[in-house]
Amino acid sequence: MSGNSANINDQFLGQALDLARQGIGLASPNPYVGAVIVDARGSIVGTGCYTYVGVKHAEVLALEQAGGRARGGTLYINLEPHSHQGRTPPCTDALIAAGIKRVVASMWDPNPKVSGQGFEKLRDAGIQVDVGGLETEARRLNEHFARYIRHAFPLVTLKAAMTLNGKIAPAPETELNRAPGTPAGGWITGEAARANVQQQRRQSDAVLVGVGTIIADDPLLTDRSGLPRRRPLLRVILDSRLRMPLESRVVKTVTTGDSPRSDVLVFCSAPDENKKRELEARGIHVEHVPPAADERPEICAVLRRLGELEITSVMIEGGSELNATALNSGVVDKVFLYYAPKIITASGSIPFIAHGAFRPNDPLPQVKRFTLHSFGDDFAVEGYLRDPYEE
Ligand SMILES: NC(=O)c1ccc[n+]([C@@H]2O[C@H](COP(=O)([O-])OP(=O)(O)OC[C@H]3O[C@@H](n4cnc5c(N)ncnc54)[C@H](OP(=O)(O)O)[C@@H]3O)[C@@H](O)[C@H]2O)c1
Repeated sequence: MSGNSANINDQFLGQALDLARQGIGLASPNPYVGAVIVDARGSIVGTGCYTYVGVKHAEVLALEQAGGRARGGTLYINLEPHSHQGRTPPCTDALIAAGIKRVVASMWDPNPKVSGQGFEKLRDAGIQVDVGGLETEARRLNEHFARYIRHAFPLVTLKAAMTLNGKIAPAPETELNRAPGTPAGGWITGEAARANVQQQRRQSDAVLVGVGTIIADDPLLTDRSGLPRRRPLLRVILDSRLRMPLESRVVKTVTTGDSPRSDVLVFCSAPDENKKRELEARGIHVEHVPPAADERPEICAVLRRLGELEITSVMIEGGSELNATALNSGVVDKVFLYYAPKIITASGSIPFIAHGAFRPNDPLPQVKRFTLHSFGDDFAVEGYLRDPYEE
């Protein structure tokens, strides 16, 4: 491929990726897909973006827009077109019928039902298929889908905001007067970092905390990005004995719907039955999961259950106990750690990971492929503990 045609491919694939991003908050549990059809003269004749509610796939929307002008054209798309009967008929059939001459795709579909078969069907029909442009961006965009569709398990991101010396909050008795919604000890990071957390929530299907955070901070845990989403952010709380206060803000703001039945889901292991009834009466969904050795809800069982509920991505936003459990049990795929250039010197401040979580000879969790972000005076490290595409 000449340098010029690689540039043209990247330009149209970039547009397909931008279209795919319009599905954020809407497409889950399906992948984000955008499509651009270009005719033989190099003009865009059709575009499409997949949103779950719209049902139709991006390539079908683009074909409909292009009509007869699709014949002899090229489809640019971030993900392999599917060749199986799902909620919609195979897109490969539609592309073949429309007379598309060439397909340029960023990557294979990680869905084992599709992987490679879509390209094969197109090639069998005489369509030229080129795979690979902007692959890194495309893989990144659908990493939650890759993890979920192969393992029926959500992509797990551990998020925390801390000082340079790794403290997520001052000592519990440090402050008492604060506005509702401000965490105990006040905010660690500034407004720009916190606005980014809202963007991260928007890209997640669920947020997960331990009851310690509910009691200490009384957070809302909602998506306040102001952007549309198809399913409300599922607020998940681990609470062995159901200690969460009935007057906490998550309880007061619960909304109920069809699937899942409630936007607040509490996992317990040894519940107080009266409290369970009181929470359920307020619309909160309470589920019992088998306890781990520490008698608390076992985190792998919790995440497997979330996978059953078609939750493709979870952001852990808990305190040091939950951070310790999550890192120790190996469920964390990636981290998004915000740092404020501050140092807490007072004794009793809360560490990022609870003391004693790791034994001296335990292997250290290793963050790979990390990216640095800056938000006003703060910065963040985003990186991977595991490749979401690994088998
Ligand atoms: N800066 C930040 O990013 C950030 C974020 C969140 C919280 N915080 C701070 O963290 C502090 C609270 O820390 P925390 O450790 O108490 O909060 P947490 O980790 O959110 O909650 C811990 C509690 O969750 C319950 N739990 C149930 N199942 C669990 C499991 N499998 N693994 C771990 N915990 C489980 C336990 O109570 P039971 O045994 O009763 O079930 C445990 O005591 C507060 O000071 C808060 O301000 C800071």
